[in-house]
Amino acid sequence: MALKSTPFHLLGLRDFPVTAAQAIFHEAKLYKQHRATPPAKPLEGQTWALIFSKSSTRTRVSFEVGIRELGGTSMFLSANDIQLGRGEPIKDTARVLGRMIHGAVIRTFAQQDVVDFAQYSGIPTINALTDDEHPCQILTDIFTFEEKLGPIAGRKVAFIGDGACNVAVSWAYAAEHFKFQLAIAAPEGFECPVHNSHVTHVRSPEEAVRNADLLYTDVWISMGKEAEAAERLKSFSGYQINHALVKKAAPGALVLHCLPAYRDKEISEALLEERIDDIMDQAENRMHVQKGVMHWLAHMKYHNV
Ligand code: CP
Ligand code: NVA
Repeated sequence: MALKSTPFHLLGLRDFPVTAAQAIFHEAKLYKQHRATPPAKPLEGQTWALIFSKSSTRTRVSFEVGIRELGGTSMFLSANDIQLGRGEPIKDTARVLGRMIHGAVIRTFAQQDVVDFAQYSGIPTINALTDDEHPCQILTDIFTFEEKLGPIAGRKVAFIGDGACNVAVSWAYAAEHFKFQLAIAAPEGFECPVHNSHVTHVRSPEEAVRNADLLYTDVWISMGKEAEAAERLKSFSGYQINHALVKKAAPGALVLHCLPAYRDKEISEALLEERIDDIMDQAENRMHVQKGVMHWLAHMKYHNV
């Protein structure tokens, strides 16, 4: 089913308007510049829940801190600890929480679950990663690119590795909205399912990185795919980002990784350590950009009720 991001939610990047992203980046910059004295506290008096069915370090911490610094209170709900984990339907969970809390941040498997939660809860809902998309990550990655290299429109991004994973899919939607070229190098069986005029699908990592301004990768074994580990390790050999590959990209190309990183698998230890400052800026920016997202959601709600 088509993903839909209404003004009240961030469910994915497929239909996400670039004007909304620009508004989010504008706020994110202000929240980053003035962290000690935030320009606004749009979540004052609100309680937001994080409902997670998968592990997380960056997403969980950046949202919990971000909600608090925007004046709200956060509540972490592991899906296994609530009745959802025992089979209570997502729509009933959503209806109940919609009566009690003001916003939800959801990390789960099925994209349909965040779509249903948004529909049945009626509260702002943010996709914090599903099997299909990772919109907060890619908005942050674009923000980080622009902070370091200027506007992304007209530039070239190379994604090397699992083209079918959530991160690659969100990159592919973003390429069309933000008007940059995205070359995805993936082995057979792991091609990106998204096709548009801004995305090129290739087998060869060398071909993908030619003239690229950003080299990007993600884990070869996404959460939920652990049973395929042995087969995936074989398929992805040759798809590592390393110094030899960076040499074939544009001079001054940025290297980013959403993390967690598996050293000497999708990225060489030497390259990761060389580029660690940029990659940590990227990780930190999750918090600033997500503040921008929540600010924007709170603002849209205010103007629509
Ligand atoms: N990049 C990212 O989403 O990291 P976590 O899985 O630690 O949240
Ligand atoms: N594709 C990875 C992203 C982790 C942040 C996963 O889904 O596990």
